[in-house]
Amino acid sequence: MYVLNLRLINIRNHTNSFYELSNETLFTGENGSGKTTILESLYILFGLKSFKKQPLSSAVTFDKDFFRIESEIKDGSLISDVVCLFNNKRTTMINGEDIDNIVDYVYNHPIACYTPDILGILSKEQQDRRNFIDRFIFYYDKEHIYDIKHYNRLLSQKQAEFDKEASDFIYLDVLNEKIVYLSEKISNKRVKIIDEINENLKELYKSLDFSMENVFINYSSNILNTSLFNKEKFIKKSLYGIHRDKIEMCLDNKIIEKFSSTGQKKTFILLCLYSFIKIIEENRKISIITLLDDFEAALDKKRAEFIKNIFSNSRQVLYTGVDNTRLNFENVINIK
Ligand SMILES: Nc1ncnc2c1ncn2[C@@H]1O[C@H](COP(=O)(O)OP(=O)(O)OP(=O)(O)O)[C@@H](O)[C@H]1O
Ligand SMILES: [Mg+2]
Repeated sequence: MYVLNLRLINIRNHTNSFYELSNETLFTGENGSGKTTILESLYILFGLKSFKKQPLSSAVTFDKDFFRIESEIKDGSLISDVVCLFNNKRTTMINGEDIDNIVDYVYNHPIACYTPDILGILSKEQQDRRNFIDRFIFYYDKEHIYDIKHYNRLLSQKQAEFDKEASDFIYLDVLNEKIVYLSEKISNKRVKIIDEINENLKELYKSLDFSMENVFINYSSNILNTSLFNKEKFIKKSLYGIHRDKIEMCLDNKIIEKFSSTGQKKTFILLCLYSFIKIIEENRKISIITLLDDFEAALDKKRAEFIKNIFSNSRQVLYTGVDNTRLNFENVINIK
């Protein structure tokens, strides 16, 4: 998939902007000029939510009551118009027709993105790391999202039963049976993708010839420990299952967040992202549009060049940066 152009109406500081995009486009401009907003718009158009942890309504330009993002996309030889309009309720249209199945739409318009905020997944909640990984699993296995939703529903039902004064243990056993089944299914998919990512990371770090070695994602789960169900009955809280999976990003058996520099963390996240993209692209025989916000910041020239080369190699990439004094880009657009 390839984005030919992008028009932004009333989204943050863009009241009416239009950009023709190339295979490799760098947006430059002063702080606050609206570079990240361009990437955010494309993410909203395809992912149907922002990469910022904010409701869509906060992206509407102050004093306006809607935003509109329009784009022409090329998929093989097919060119379609995609419009995302937010007017208290989001509407998304392709060639004038409303989309009715959101899951299919997001699956059919995969998009990957790095923003400086993503570095937070190294330090914040386990839930953020699980979500990061689940999103990529979804991109090559649509069913995964339905399994996660089903699992979360079961957890809520279980908690509601625990919250009753006299819990029905037979009913809890029925729920647990389904929870075990789904936990195994979801966990197997997480293990599989993390194993593949770890293989890729090993190769990438070798070719970069960095001094750090043995970088990997560590995954642990409690799903073999069904004795937790007995403990749950006393503390009346779900202890068993994939909502307690632990995912740690490690360097030589130490957690990256604690011992790595900013550039090392950024390198790690970018190479993880690249590995996810490669796995999905190879599985689905597609190319994934990739957004790299504030790309060069904190990276030395050798890393920036290496990482830019692998990303730009066979997919459309949109970069942003305050200036572009070190690397060459096919298309540079300066935002005023
Ligand atoms: N709802 C809104 N309405 C109008 N303006 C907004 C709204 N939300 C944010 N802004 C402004 O829009 C601009 C968007 O900033 P954006 O983050 O896209 O800039 P940037 O070019 O990426 O900056 P930096 O180089 O600092 O990363 C900022 O000036 C911000 O103050
Ligand atoms: Mg920015």
